[in-house]
Amino acid sequence: MRKLQITYLPSGIAVHVPVGTTLFNAAHWAGLPIDSTCGGRGTCGKCAVRVVSREAEPTPADHRHLAQERIEMGWRLSCRCEVHEDMSCEVPRPMRTPRAATMGVGRLVLLEPNVRKLLLELPEPALEDHRSHLERIRDALAVEGLEIDVGPSLLRRLAATLADGVTVTATVVGHHLVAVEAGDTRDRTFGVSFDVGTTTVVATLVDLRSGAAAAVASTINRQAPFGADVIARIGHAMTGPQAIEQLRAAVLETMNDLLDETCAAADVAPAHVYESVVVGNATMLHLLLGVDPRSIALSPFVATFLEPQDLRAADVGLEILPEGRVALFPSIGAYVGADIVADVLATGLARGEKLRLLIDVGTNGEIVCGSAERVVATAAPAGPAFEGGQILHGMRATEGAIEGVVLGDQVRLQVIGSDREPRGICGSGLIDTVAQLRLAGLLKENGILLSGEEATGHPLADRLVEDADGVRAFALTRDIVLSQLDIRELQSAKAAIATGIQVALDALGLAPEQLDEVLLAGSFGTYINPESARVVGLVPSVPVERIRAVGNTASEGAKMALVSFREREMAFGFPAFIEYVELSGVADFNERFIRNLAFPALEAVG
Ligand code: FES
Repeated sequence: MRKLQITYLPSGIAVHVPVGTTLFNAAHWAGLPIDSTCGGRGTCGKCAVRVVSREAEPTPADHRHLAQERIEMGWRLSCRCEVHEDMSCEVPRPMRTPRAATMGVGRLVLLEPNVRKLLLELPEPALEDHRSHLERIRDALAVEGLEIDVGPSLLRRLAATLADGVTVTATVVGHHLVAVEAGDTRDRTFGVSFDVGTTTVVATLVDLRSGAAAAVASTINRQAPFGADVIARIGHAMTGPQAIEQLRAAVLETMNDLLDETCAAADVAPAHVYESVVVGNATMLHLLLGVDPRSIALSPFVATFLEPQDLRAADVGLEILPEGRVALFPSIGAYVGADIVADVLATGLARGEKLRLLIDVGTNGEIVCGSAERVVATAAPAGPAFEGGQILHGMRATEGAIEGVVLGDQVRLQVIGSDREPRGICGSGLIDTVAQLRLAGLLKENGILLSGEEATGHPLADRLVEDADGVRAFALTRDIVLSQLDIRELQSAKAAIATGIQVALDALGLAPEQLDEVLLAGSFGTYINPESARVVGLVPSVPVERIRAVGNTASEGAKMALVSFREREMAFGFPAFIEYVELSGVADFNERFIRNLAFPALEAVG
């Protein structure tokens, strides 16, 4: 994709951005705050910069906000000025020092939420001032550079609110006037972000004045009884409109319960939650809106929508302030969803110079690779093995799951929970066990376990057992074994992801050793032992210190977009910039997948 260079003076900071990016967004990309109170909507007039490299055509917004003399000197509203060739511009020092907080993976985020509360002292209606209630509010907001639209339910309550006094707090989300409250309520300004996973939903209630999380809660997605992964959920949705409604209600109920829980924990009224930002895979976002997701599962795998959505909370069914807004992140493709866009935002992958690979491991392994220069994304069908599915003694990473294994002269297990009584193996335990078996010399490169006889003399030889059908297994405890078939499942899952990584690297013309960092995202990524991931071939053979678990970056990205409209704008631009590769369209996918079933040679990962 063609990139243009913008140089900001007097600092000389340069940034490379896609054609059509505004000078305002590009400055944010470069970490330069340009003054604004309207969120880049062309209404506050505060974001002017002087274009020095060429003549830039003035826009109607320039004529509205800037004196002719300034326009002739080259001043333009940066939020309206798109770049179509290399440019230089002069940026005045910001009029105010914006507040900032560190969020995501070490990202400094300016606290400028899309939700703005303004205290208005309205003139009393009088015989000589016949302006309507709404007009008086509109006029007061116009002074702040805000243009608004208003829904009928707010109009229904407006006269009653104004009857209580002329001091009101107006809440504007984007360009929507969502509340007019009597008195000064500016100290109660909240938003909520949701990361809607197929398995787990996470809600973060955020105090929008400080950017701090007021409460966080998570729970299992109530759609779980309808299927463990997106394909099973789509399968259920395909049984008819009632099933889609069932799935919509289930995820909404999950989100509303989490909203209640976080509001109760922070002592916040849901009516003081004015906006929600939602990320999740494309299927989850379809189901949240009750949109039939079947085309996602059928070739050529097309979603009904990928674009960001800005919706009224009451229309979605989310029980924040009914007039409040719900912003859905955009997706990149049917299988590289809005959660990955949020991952990219939180990690800063698309704006740094470092070459980074981000892997979000789940039933669908999502892969993003690149730097500010170019980014490629793909999705690999890993199947349920990493979540304990189709594994003889597999289980989710909950109480009693073996999450870590060390094989020496003995077997040492790390078990989740207080009583430490192992009940099964979760994904990280599975990867650890297989990696340790490789390192202990008990598992061949082709994935075949040694028999007890073949391992004679090894201190763990008596752990190599066989079931009645002659299927080999390694006994972790008396009751819990890792069977040869489980190892096959793991091989398939890791081969799918390794192939996705190879395809992404090839698209960028990179060799694995050129990667500066490998980021393991998502809750599963947090618990994987990086060394084990490398030994089994789930991640490329880079030095282990380059592999980092970055936690739930999807949640973090959603939170960042909630507290900063600039970050949101940037994230919403990612789908146009990130190149999506559909793995099923890669001609030699099957050959590569088969080659990747084997484990890396120990010399390669040692
Ligand atoms: S006019 Fe407000 S940011 Fe440009």
